[in-house]
Amino acid sequence: MKESALGQISQVTEAAQLQDLRVKYLGKKGELTELLRGMGSLSPEERPVVGQLVNEVREALEAAFSGKQKAFEEAALFAKLSSQTIDVTLPGRPVPAGTMHPLSRIIEEIEDIFIGLGFEVAEGPEVELDHFNFEMLNLPKDHPARDMQDTFYVTEELLLRTQTSPVQARTMLKKEGKTPLKMICPGKVYRRDDDDATHSHQFTQIEGLVIDKKIGMSDLKGTLLTFARQMFGENQQIRLRPSFFPFTEPSVEVDLQCFNCGGHGCRVCKQTGWIEILGAGMVHPRVLEMAGYNPEEVSGFAFGMGVERIAMLKYAVEDIRHFYTNDVRFLRQFNRG
Ligand code: PHE
Repeated sequence: MKESALGQISQVTEAAQLQDLRVKYLGKKGELTELLRGMGSLSPEERPVVGQLVNEVREALEAAFSGKQKAFEEAALFAKLSSQTIDVTLPGRPVPAGTMHPLSRIIEEIEDIFIGLGFEVAEGPEVELDHFNFEMLNLPKDHPARDMQDTFYVTEELLLRTQTSPVQARTMLKKEGKTPLKMICPGKVYRRDDDDATHSHQFTQIEGLVIDKKIGMSDLKGTLLTFARQMFGENQQIRLRPSFFPFTEPSVEVDLQCFNCGGHGCRVCKQTGWIEILGAGMVHPRVLEMAGYNPEEVSGFAFGMGVERIAMLKYAVEDIRHFYTNDVRFLRQFNRG
């Protein structure tokens, strides 16, 4: 029996067959088990002899079974490994990576320029109090200049900020009358405009504010000229035109010489040679006073520029809506590579 069992075990080719054989010999009703059971009918002299023999056979069979079992497992592992080989020399599949949004890039560039000039970067809430968006900027309720910016109101007192200028007031209050104060604030602003190629109900501004002793219009002009040259090239010219904002006096609008035509007049600048990029002025004494600064002792300038405007000029983008519709073919063009 031992010989025939060992012979069968060695010929088995599948794990399932091996299991069948194990049952056949060593199972509860297996041949070897039956032999052991039959030992009761043997004489006392025969019993140890037969017992030892049966044990020997069982050990031999068990060894054969587990040897074969191990061989099957190894074969299965080997088959798995060889079917799953990885060729590490193959080129990898490209992982599609996002690119930095052009507006974020422009904001970072502008921040870097002003940080280089000693400005700090501030932030303020997009859902703003009427108090900061208007009143602290010398625009009391019913002031006609409120109509300059059509506002999304949340409640009577709460609105979506129409400009980043409320951060001027917030920053001044935080500084508690201390000088120098030099900050810029990038952020989203909202106005009830109908969207078209040059208007968006939500767009981006960067506010700037400087307060110190003896700050004058020349500081404003020098700062903006330095900015324009770092942003658009060494020979860039700017032009200041008188304008009006309730929170600055005097107020100006600042134009960039059109770099498309060098100031000679073209489609981009509507034949004027100049392109408006921001509003600015000397901080109104009332605004200083309301925010805890003494206009007899200190003065300041402020400006607010449109980031989309600048991005459109720099990258020759013709429709502001491209920045918001997130067509990856548009966005990928700004990949730093
Ligand atoms: N807040 C003004 C606007 O949105 C721009 C501005 C900022 C003007 C600071 C003067 C000083 O039109």
